[in-house]
Formats: sequence, structure tokens, C-alpha cells
Amino acid sequence: MAEPLLPASLADFAGLARAALPPEVWDFVEGGSGTETTLTANRAALDRVAVLPRVLTGVDRPRTDAPLLGRPQAMPVAVAPMAYQRLVHPDGEPALAAAARAAGVPYVASTLSSTRIEEIGAVGGEVWFQLYWLRDRGMVADLLDRAHAAGCAALMVTVDVPILGRRLRDVRNGFALPPHVTAANLPGGRDDLAHQGTPGVSAVAVHTGAAFAPALSWADLAWLRGRTTLPLLVKGVLDPRDAARAAETGADAVVVSNHGGRQLDGTPATATVLPEVVAAVGQRCEVLLDSGVRGGVDVLRALALGATGVLVGRPMLWALAAGGRAGAEAGLALLAAELRDALTLTGCADPAAARHLRTTTGG
Ligand SMILES: Cc1cc2nc3c(=O)[nH]c(=O)nc-3n(C[C@H](O)[C@H](O)[C@H](O)COP(=O)(O)O)c2cc1C
Repeated sequence: MAEPLLPASLADFAGLARAALPPEVWDFVEGGSGTETTLTANRAALDRVAVLPRVLTGVDRPRTDAPLLGRPQAMPVAVAPMAYQRLVHPDGEPALAAAARAAGVPYVASTLSSTRIEEIGAVGGEVWFQLYWLRDRGMVADLLDRAHAAGCAALMVTVDVPILGRRLRDVRNGFALPPHVTAANLPGGRDDLAHQGTPGVSAVAVHTGAAFAPALSWADLAWLRGRTTLPLLVKGVLDPRDAARAAETGADAVVVSNHGGRQLDGTPATATVLPEVVAAVGQRCEVLLDSGVRGGVDVLRALALGATGVLVGRPMLWALAAGGRAGAEAGLALLAAELRDALTLTGCADPAAARHLRTTTGG
């Protein structure tokens, strides 16, 4: 089937992106780890969540705005942290951050951005900083100070990457960063390994293996909590016991995430574990979900399962690849329109009402 010229949904950007990108970059974006079982399961689990609409609620035009971390947002959605965005479009992170600003949602800047955090912060809008814990704690402290000075409004620490998952597409492609794409936040030369292409080896996995601290612990999270006054999100939680402990350690939110199926292949779909995590943290902190969100109905599903909001990953890279900032703005506008329709069709006046909807997985 021919690709649509005008995307009618966020998912329609995938075909445009695939046509625009070199195959190895498409694989880096799209791929999961191992047999991609978890990657597939994320979608299947969301598709199984059927939402029971309320009728006769008298709702005309629902609002899509909702707070995240107590801060008002145009919808309960943030752009997920994603490394090396200049791989998919020369305008990279600033273009996607500008689209998020225009849409009124937070943009989460990765530690492994191909643009310095200062430049991303200068775009304006609400920027959150995602921290990968580097082996060098001095560098971690330096990144935190820079994120703060750049105006970041929240800190998201990713805890599911002691090492990179075995992403076989990247291994088979011998994937390495092209010279023009760098880990711009790291001091000069700290990303050399990511550029060294070797057949049968993922250079990005070798680089993160050298740069990231694998033995992160609760004591480190407590240190981080004490080091920043910014709202703190812990990303990459699946076990409800870990979610409860993160809340006890002072996290303002946990992100139920399996990294879009890119870390351990064989972890459960996020929609499957979300309700248990919500029950475990209670009112103590917010719960966001990512991995597989592809449209407004998925946002509704996550809310109905008890989430406060979602992160959207790959679809934003598809839209950026397809059309730069304008493409990403169009993608986020579609998502907002889909969410408004989903709320209308379930009789919800706003995203908070959607959290009272019932769901069934009975098909
Ligand atoms: C190309 C790519 C790069 C990513 N880089 C990061 C990163 O630097 N930090 C991080 O915490 N998560 C990273 N992620 C994971 C996303 O933040 C998010 O958890 C995942 O993409 C959500 O799944 P989805 O793509 O199905 O929406 C990356 C994901 C992709 C696809």
C-alpha cells in the first residue's frame, strides 16, 4: 500500500521516516533487543486494553490539559528522552524541543543528546533532563549543575541501563555513530568508542559499556534526591516493589518503562504491570508509562489503568525524521486531536475523568 502523503495518525509517520532514513539508522531507532519479544508485547498488551465508555455525561468539548509533576501541561504527555536525535534530522534536538514547546508538553533531553543541554534549554518551553549515571561521579555532578543552569524543570534518572540490551539489529549492522553526530554533553573525546565501527559489534553498546556505571543502587538514588531540589522521576521501573521503594526514597514520579523493548528482552509489557505499580505507590507519587504508545487511544488506555500520563518515544523520531520541527509539531497536534476524540467518545470532560474509566482485557 502506498504511504499516505498527509499522515492521518502518529503511526503514519513511520513509513515516511523509514523512507527518509538510512537503513541502519532506521534499525537503531526501531529495533528492540533479542528476539524483540518485549517490543512486540508492548503493543499487543496496549491493544488488549479495552476501555468502557461512559454515556450521557453531557460532555461537549473535553479539555486535554492535565498536570504532570504538579505543573500544567497541554496534555498528559511528554516527549521521551532519546539519544542522538541528529541521526534522524540535521536540526536534531532543538527542532523536537521547539515542537514540544509549541504543543505545550515537556521535552525530555537525554544525557546522550547530540546537542548540548545549554542549547536545548535555550529553546524554551519545559525541558526535563534525563540522567544516565556515568562511571565518573564528578561528571554526573557537573551534568546536574549544567541541567539546572540551563533551566531544566525536572530530573529523570534512567535506572534500566546498567548495560545496553543486546540489540541485534545494531550488532548485525556494526552500527556506529557517523562523525557529525556526537555525545555533545560529554567532555571532548568521551564518545570516541561510539564512532568506531566494527563488523558484528554495536559501537553504541561498547561506548555505553565504558561510560555508564552498572552498579547503581538505592544509595545513589538517595544521593541524587539530596543533591537536587528539582522534581525527580525514576525511569525504567517494572517491579511494584521497586516503585514503592522509589516513592519512599523521594521520587516524585516513576516511569513504568521497559525502554521500548530495548533492554532485557523478556520483560513484561508495560501496560501489563502498570496497575500493580499504581497500587503499590498509591498517592505517594505519580506514575507515567511508556513503551508502545502510538496514539490518543493509548494515552486514554494508560490513564484508565491509573497512570498520570505517558511518554512518547519512537513516533516523535519518526515525525522529526519525516519533517523536522514542522513534522514533529504535526505529530503532536495529531496526538492531541486523537486524545480529545478519545475523551469525547468516552464521555470524559478531561484526562482526570479518564482515570475513573473501567477497562477489560477480555477482548
Ligand atoms: C532511538 C532511541 C533512543 C533512546 N535513547 C534513550 C536515552 O537516551 N535515555 C533514555 O532514558 N531512554 C532512551 N530511549 C527510550 C525512550 O526514552 C523510551 O523509553 C522508549 O522509546 C519508549 O518506547 P516507544 O519508543 O515505544 O514509545 C531511547 C529510545 C529510542 C527508540
